[in-house]
Amino acid sequence: MDQITFQHDTVLSDVHMHRPNTRHLMTRLSAVGQPVFMSRFRILAEVRDEGGCEDKLRSPRSDDDDDDDEEGYGDEEPLLDEDGDLDVAHRPRKDSVDDGGRDLVCPIILQQSDPEQHDGDDEDDEDAHFSKDIIRIEHTMATPLQDVGKQVWRGALLLADFILSEPDLFRGATVLELGAGTGLTSIVTATMAKTVYCTDVGEDLLRLCNRNVCLNKHILEPAGGKVKVKRLDWLQHSLCTDADGEFSWTEEEVADLYDNASFILAADVCYDDDLTDGLFRTLYRLCSSFRHAAAIFISLEKRMNFSLRHMDVCCEAYNHFMHCLSQLQDLQDGRWRFMVELVPLNFPQFLLYERIEQLELWKITASLLPSERSRLDSNGGCSQNQPPSRFDPTTE
Ligand SMILES: C[S@@+](CC[C@H](N)C(=O)[O-])C[C@H]1O[C@@H](n2cnc3c(N)ncnc32)[C@H](O)[C@@H]1O
Repeated sequence: MDQITFQHDTVLSDVHMHRPNTRHLMTRLSAVGQPVFMSRFRILAEVRDEGGCEDKLRSPRSDDDDDDDEEGYGDEEPLLDEDGDLDVAHRPRKDSVDDGGRDLVCPIILQQSDPEQHDGDDEDDEDAHFSKDIIRIEHTMATPLQDVGKQVWRGALLLADFILSEPDLFRGATVLELGAGTGLTSIVTATMAKTVYCTDVGEDLLRLCNRNVCLNKHILEPAGGKVKVKRLDWLQHSLCTDADGEFSWTEEEVADLYDNASFILAADVCYDDDLTDGLFRTLYRLCSSFRHAAAIFISLEKRMNFSLRHMDVCCEAYNHFMHCLSQLQDLQDGRWRFMVELVPLNFPQFLLYERIEQLELWKITASLLPSERSRLDSNGGCSQNQPPSRFDPTTE
């Protein structure tokens, strides 16, 4: 347990890379016996620089911060490595990026909890841990592929950054997140949105996610947004409404989703072609049931691998994602139109992670064609749409 044990399908998110994985830092064992850790993510404030001409992100450890305590960043305890040596967080590099010269924030500065500090226990936590700009997330470390949702991925941080940079867009909205994993992006979204349906599969993962929602009540309650953790499997045709399922949907929730949702979010969910097909079918089905146009935001990270099939380094999962995107855009079902665009990554960084060039954010706008709109209006807004059986993102 004190060492990361790599099995043939073990994966470790870069977000957790270089973090100690030792038993004394874990907060608990999950119901399936996996060590659970806690990381804290600080949401940085965006401030105007002295000249007032451009927004500039205040980076906690940039040279500009002479007085850390005064700036509110000095309250973190120093990180110690396994031997008790100081684990030095390096300064962000001074190179400026293309979008206006703000500091590049390189290292991921998370702080794992030490159970001695009561981080796993709500009631005993220190006030500092309830700061409104700190999101606390329980997660596991290296996991088999089937449990990747229990780690935090860079795509979740990128998408959360985008949402934080567009508060007016998301304020008061009803939002659906697919493949939400630990729930970080949904939690961030609910600081602006009215309701976020935070969905994924697997009881243990959904429980972890639900726990994270509870751990962040100090952020959610003042904002008034709700996060509802629900099961939504891209490989199933309908939402689970079994009355006795812990993460099932009620009829009212299904109606609220279809009537009011205007955004769908998905972070780092395209890494397996069959799942990507299921995801795109789900997107199509959901939009067909929505009463409103919807904007879908999908973040991803291109991961390059050597492919024996191509005898070259390539990103097959990304290629398949692009194929599905273009199929969706070309789809002509006489009812919906899907417009696809790449979102420029020039929005500020509110969370600390390395915004590497392999990260991308895609926006799909799903809108009803005018003829379908008037048909629906004359029909009392009741959609009869079913996904066309021929729609299959895997076909050429
Ligand atoms: C790489 S993780 C990303 C998690 C989270 N969005 C993040 O970025 O930190 C992929 C997520 O897709 C979810 N997923 C995989 N298959 C799924 C399915 N059939 N239906 C719904 N979610 C699925 C996984 O459980 C996992 O949470």
